[in-house]
Amino acid sequence: MPFPIPNRARSGEVLASLFVSLCATTMLAAQAETDLLTKYAPSDIQGGSRIYTAQCAACHGPNGDGVAKVDLRSGKFSRASSDDDLRKLITTGVSGTAMPPFKFDSPQLNMIVAYLRNMREFGSHTVKVGEALRGQTVFEAKGKCITCHRVNGKGSRIGPDLSDIGGSRTAEVLERSLLDPNASIQPANRFVRAVTRDGKTVRGRRLNEDSYTVQIIDEQEHLVSLVKADLREYTVIKTSAMPSYKDTLNADERADVIAYLLSLKGSQ
Ligand code: HEC
Ligand code: HEC
Repeated sequence: MPFPIPNRARSGEVLASLFVSLCATTMLAAQAETDLLTKYAPSDIQGGSRIYTAQCAACHGPNGDGVAKVDLRSGKFSRASSDDDLRKLITTGVSGTAMPPFKFDSPQLNMIVAYLRNMREFGSHTVKVGEALRGQTVFEAKGKCITCHRVNGKGSRIGPDLSDIGGSRTAEVLERSLLDPNASIQPANRFVRAVTRDGKTVRGRRLNEDSYTVQIIDEQEHLVSLVKADLREYTVIKTSAMPSYKDTLNADERADVIAYLLSLKGSQ
């Protein structure tokens, strides 16, 4: 529902209430997860999964079974039993093998351990990861992802640039984006609809917003800056512009697309 914005104070109020409702939802979700695993903070597990994707998955694989005789998801390690053992092992590496030493600080080590301990539940093992090259074809052809997304300079700016999405998202998070885009919108990617005083309607993805202005990429891919005091209406749209791929892609095609997205680590 659109709400009119007669003045600046009101727009501040609206934003504040939006912010509060966002926080409340995040806290609820976090609470549910905390009930599941009391020992490790969900934020640590999530942080650890990012580090894992960026630093460990190249050898251990997205599912933790990429190294022979090692299954990181199993929760059993032949070279470590306590969390302390794990922190030590990751810091020193395993000499004489390909397992390198890492220079993580202690919050980072805690995150990785939290993730390793919860890979079974929170890791990507339930998500099928296919083949990146085939995924790229689906991304550019059948999935039409390229009509909204940009990868390494190619494609559209309507949706977020995905050139380095593989560095910060797990397979599980990516699958959720494909199946249920509405449930996984990042606040930074919200679409807004604005009506100016002279009756012009602008829709697009919000890039930036402060008390007085908002910058969006409109549906023609133009960067538009609007002064809020000049707007008759300003709505943040809660539904995603992205369609769900639950029915338009089959499970194998989605697995391939996920593999492709995981391979995107930014252009060198
Ligand atoms: C260059 C490849 C490579 C990278 C990168 C790598 N590992 Fe390893 N890792 C290995 C290999 C190979 C082994 C098996 C060593 C052996 O033979 O015991 C191993 C072993 C392990 C073990 C012990 C498994 C067990 O059963 O005892 C853990 C835990 C581990 N790695 C965690 C990590 C984490 C966490 C990261 C990222 C921060 C990481 N590794 C990055 C190659 C790698
Ligand atoms: C009609 C436009 C449109 C199409 C087609 C589309 N997307 Fe999106 N996508 C978006 C928009 C807009 C967002 C960001 C806001 C949101 O989540 O709704 C998004 C978000 C995402 C995200 C989450 C990004 C993040 O930061 O977590 C991923 C991943 C993604 N899209 C992948 C894909 C893939 C893969 C395809 C094709 C199979 C695709 N999209 C097709 C518009 C689209």
